[in-house]
Amino acid sequence: MKSESPLVPVLPPQDHSGEPSGWRFATSIGPWGPLLAEYYEVAREALPNEREFWASLVQPTSTVVEIGAGSGFISKALAEASPRLLTLVEPEREHLKLLRRAMRTWKTHSQIDIVEAFFENTKISKHNLIVFPFDSLPMITSRKQRAQLYAAIAERLVPGGKFVVHFSSPSWNENYVRETGRQSVSTYTIRSGHELRVRRLSKPISKAEFIKFISVECPEKQARENYVALTAIVQEDEVILDAASAGFKLESRFGDFKKNVFSPSEEVIFVFKKM
Ligand SMILES: C[S@@+](CC[C@H](N)C(=O)[O-])C[C@H]1O[C@@H](n2cnc3c(N)ncnc32)[C@H](O)[C@@H]1O
Repeated sequence: MKSESPLVPVLPPQDHSGEPSGWRFATSIGPWGPLLAEYYEVAREALPNEREFWASLVQPTSTVVEIGAGSGFISKALAEASPRLLTLVEPEREHLKLLRRAMRTWKTHSQIDIVEAFFENTKISKHNLIVFPFDSLPMITSRKQRAQLYAAIAERLVPGGKFVVHFSSPSWNENYVRETGRQSVSTYTIRSGHELRVRRLSKPISKAEFIKFISVECPEKQARENYVALTAIVQEDEVILDAASAGFKLESRFGDFKKNVFSPSEEVIFVFKKM
């Protein structure tokens, strides 16, 4: 392994019109390998009050879906609030391995169902709360496909059910692209004790999307995995409009997980009600 070789992101075909390219990478190009999943698990840190916020949405009678459970960072908080049913939807096998291991330590009375699939392809019953946490929405890169996702969410909710989504604001994304426009390097120690060297780079593609490139190397294992994903810069107004077309009414919006009023801040949290 040549750890000093430069990052060479594989870019999808470029469209120079400045409009979104409409590519849809639900997660990344290729599946997540074990290094990427373990890196995500150690690097994931809670935003202030994040877990408490999600847990506060849950009642003992709730039936809850988490879209994109990953290795269970938010799922644990949902499970420990003990809803009647918790359905965790996640397509990536390496995340699911970590999720199944983590679940053994959760203190919960809930029935927990794991569904290994993209949410849009699931045939699940109607629930009364669907959550889409931690800036996962931008993984769906075209506005049209995000609108289709809202329709799929509405179909899987009872009338009056809630859909709660978090994503990073356009200004947060603009800063991220600025900071990672030049390669940045950091190191992490994973659960096995191995050191990971993580390099990040991003490339703007259009006004509405950028390529996020993350290279994770484990020198001791002579291994490297790359994550390349097209990431949308999601506009708040567009989400409200498209969710309304899918039958949702915006009930509240917050600028952070402490429920401070919505402002042009870093976080965007929308609570929708199915009409
Ligand atoms: C940013 S991670 C968030 C993981 C976890 N919820 C957390 O808070 O740390 C996004 C997750 O969503 C999953 N994902 C992406 N597109 C999805 C889809 N269409 N349906 C279900 N899960 C999806 C990814 O595989 C990934 O595990």
